[in-house]
Amino acid sequence: MIEHITDASADDDKVEQELENTLRPRDFKNYIGQQRLKKNLQLAITAAKKRGEPLDHVLLYGPPGLGKTTMANVIAHEMAANIRITSGPAIERGGDLASLLTNLEDGDILFIDEIHRLHRSIEEVLYSAMEDFKLDIILGKGPSAKSLRLDLPKFTIIGATTRTGSLAAPLRDRFGMIHRLDFYTAEEIALIIKRAADILGIKIDDKAAKQLAERARLTPRIANRLLRRVRDYADVNGDGIVDINISQAALALLEIDDLGLDPTDRMLLNAIIDNYQGGPVGVETLVALTSEERITIEDTLEPYLLQIGLLERTPRGRKVTTKAYSHLGKKQTNPKDQSTLL
Ligand SMILES: Nc1ncnc2c1ncn2[C@@H]1O[C@H](COP(=O)(O)OP(=O)(O)OP(=O)(O)O)[C@@H](O)[C@H]1O
Ligand SMILES: [Mg+2]
Repeated sequence: MIEHITDASADDDKVEQELENTLRPRDFKNYIGQQRLKKNLQLAITAAKKRGEPLDHVLLYGPPGLGKTTMANVIAHEMAANIRITSGPAIERGGDLASLLTNLEDGDILFIDEIHRLHRSIEEVLYSAMEDFKLDIILGKGPSAKSLRLDLPKFTIIGATTRTGSLAAPLRDRFGMIHRLDFYTAEEIALIIKRAADILGIKIDDKAAKQLAERARLTPRIANRLLRRVRDYADVNGDGIVDINISQAALALLEIDDLGLDPTDRMLLNAIIDNYQGGPVGVETLVALTSEERITIEDTLEPYLLQIGLLERTPRGRKVTTKAYSHLGKKQTNPKDQSTLL
């Protein structure tokens, strides 16, 4: 798969990951946007602290790069709790989970990223752990096997997933709070860009910040990434200051248009229009048209196109909207006209 600058998923690159950590807001005050989520969590945290209890288990879901991992860390900070970080695919055996859980202390937070990728058998161990703070261990095999119940500390699980749909219902039901992270507004993204510019010592004016914000797919991770690429451009082709001329030129070089679409998005929309009269098409068709992985299409490409109204979901598949036709400068043939032609 080609690396896209507008791909919202996390980078494997160590330097990029370091940078991402530097830019992570640590507390509610610095966590921009997601007001509804913050209000709900703040209330739950205050209540839990007042009762001297751990926070109820929290499930955060939403497209990549919107701040799930960041929020998990913010919750730990606000609870003044220790946070242990793991992920669904990292827990390979029941024993891995058992040792994670038995090493926790009262009030600790266990953050499980990509929780939808936990093995089913491990998920089942989590049920009683989450519900009763008990760990059921089976010793031995066959008819002589014995089961043992261990007490666990009172901990909190924060799960993060880009897809709640693939989470088993019994697991989902054990979370006391389930929250969706929404796309940000362009204004919030502009604030995020300014905050990141301050931290990284990048000089950017308001107009340029606004332009970057409009093209960052309403996603903080992409906003921060665009900011750095535009800074590179300013360092090489200007005096290091990011103004509207610099950002305009840098974005043109990156082939990102005024809705934040990159060549893959435009190719996808054009292909549906040219080959399928604008749809509806199934997700398999989108996979074939873009040679992107299905998960990339479903988790990153599609949510943004749906959010800004260029694609719509119908019972028979995805359809390109009138707004997409006009954005691409294409003429929309009226489906009624076509039926008379047939
Ligand atoms: N509300 C916010 N305010 C400021 N910066 C933010 C906010 N949310 C996210 N960011 C920035 O965006 C980057 C990506 O956020 P994060 O890693 O939390 O996303 P994620 O939802 O966990 O993504 P993934 O699904 O890929 O794990 C972070 O480095 C952080 O700097
Ligand atoms: Mg994350």
